[in-house]
Amino acid sequence: MSSTTIEGKPREQWTGQTGFILSAIGSAVGLGNIWRFPGVAYENGGGAFLVPYLVALLTAGIPILLLDYAVGHRYRGSAPTAFRRLARWLEPLGWFQVLISFVIAVYYAAVVAWALSFFVYSFDLRWGDDPAGFFTGSYLQLADVGGADPWVSLDFVPAVLVPLVLVWIVAIGVLVAGVAKGLERANVIFIPLLVVGFGILVVRSLTLPGATDGLDALFTPNWAALGDADVWIAAYAQIFFSLSVAFGIMITYSSYRRRRANLTSPGLVVAFANSSFEILAGIGVFAALGFLAHQQSVAVGDIEGLTGPILSFVTFPTIVSQMPAGPLFGCLFFGSLAIAGFTSFISILQVVSAAFQEKFGLSRRQAPVRIGIVAAVLSIVGMGTTTGLVALDTIDNWANNVGIVASAVLTCILVVWVLRRAPLLRAHLNAVSTTQVGPWWYACVGVVVPFVLAFMLVSRIVSLVAEGYEGYATWYLNVFGWGMIGVLVVGAFVFARIRWRVDPDVFEPWPMIGATTGGAASGADERRPGATDAGKEGRR
Ligand code: ALA
Repeated sequence: MSSTTIEGKPREQWTGQTGFILSAIGSAVGLGNIWRFPGVAYENGGGAFLVPYLVALLTAGIPILLLDYAVGHRYRGSAPTAFRRLARWLEPLGWFQVLISFVIAVYYAAVVAWALSFFVYSFDLRWGDDPAGFFTGSYLQLADVGGADPWVSLDFVPAVLVPLVLVWIVAIGVLVAGVAKGLERANVIFIPLLVVGFGILVVRSLTLPGATDGLDALFTPNWAALGDADVWIAAYAQIFFSLSVAFGIMITYSSYRRRRANLTSPGLVVAFANSSFEILAGIGVFAALGFLAHQQSVAVGDIEGLTGPILSFVTFPTIVSQMPAGPLFGCLFFGSLAIAGFTSFISILQVVSAAFQEKFGLSRRQAPVRIGIVAAVLSIVGMGTTTGLVALDTIDNWANNVGIVASAVLTCILVVWVLRRAPLLRAHLNAVSTTQVGPWWYACVGVVVPFVLAFMLVSRIVSLVAEGYEGYATWYLNVFGWGMIGVLVVGAFVFARIRWRVDPDVFEPWPMIGATTGGAASGADERRPGATDAGKEGRR
């Protein structure tokens, strides 16, 4: 059973369940797992972080993943289309998610590009004896922002530009090839490669002298951290980013699932595969850090650069230089980072491309090329210069800790409380899936996310306002942090006001729910006057 797009052509589809699961895992497993998780866990209580992390996974990550699947699969569209079909006035929420994906794509590409460069540099250990000086100096040519140099520069860095342009070209090419022949094919090739490559890396790390000290450092719990609201919000933000939920990806991906398709079991497979990979990455990274501490005769906690980009691009090269067969280890690490990042990057870009394709009636080929070029230019100007790292750090913090968390909270408040569509969406999941979603789901999407996360979000905003971020200039944070969020909000309403080229409301959801589920779906399905016989065609 296929379905049609809003312009009447058959909607693209995954070839089957395996392609969908691999693509969803490819989206979820990314920089968030290898680049962010180990450092975030270490900074936020070590072993104790696993408690808020697992709580966040079970109470918000999986429930919102299922919510995203239900919305995307039932309403068969990108985030703006799907939310609009749920209720017309929800379209701006879809655009807000699309715009978050847009800004994430702009900086995400840069990290994939750095990983590609360092993959090549691993062959001859190009960073020499001074990986820190190499990364920030020779490679990024980082400006002295806040010191002698301005905060924003247009001095381009050729070593970054070349891989960055390459990443954009290949990603646009994958999207142009389509869902089955582009996105799915890339994931079917890359994900097994990633699992094997990263698996070898973890085993090698665990056999290094000092590995257990690294694991002790990562997993020794600091229970006091659990009393800190920032630790909890770090866990929820990590889960959302890592699982690719609440910023349109899973809505878009599930919309390419055929109508009669299991959703919940693949969702659980994706969620647990992602978290397993994340914990595996923590083990691999910290075992290698234990080796470095052993080499330098210091405690793991005394190593400088245990988080963020420095962990991957300074500390790891240092480790690579000191171990036997270092180039091979470096290739495995940076190759894994580049592959994991790339399969996530294409999913982020697809969110934006699909939304513009549907709203502006673009073809499957036009949309990624046009959107890709605009985003690539911004990415090159913003991230390919000597101030790129500072911009990346700021935008990453606001997009994740404010944008995505706010999007999750808003989605739950509007869909569950205002529109009262949770019973309908649960009925949809249960109608098409083998594993049934119980009433526990209401507690998660109706209580935990809206109330607990709203409280955490407010406390995070208060601390960012009061304390700033990383000592960056206030005006800079007002422009690239708060200002960026403001632009996304305004942009969401502006895009929602623009006229659709093809009426998205000529559509009828399937299966019809209401009569058969009685009260479970609040009495009625969302059939609207716009749903016509032409819409019924969409079912076939
Ligand atoms: N889920 C993707 C990641 O973890 C975005 O990097």
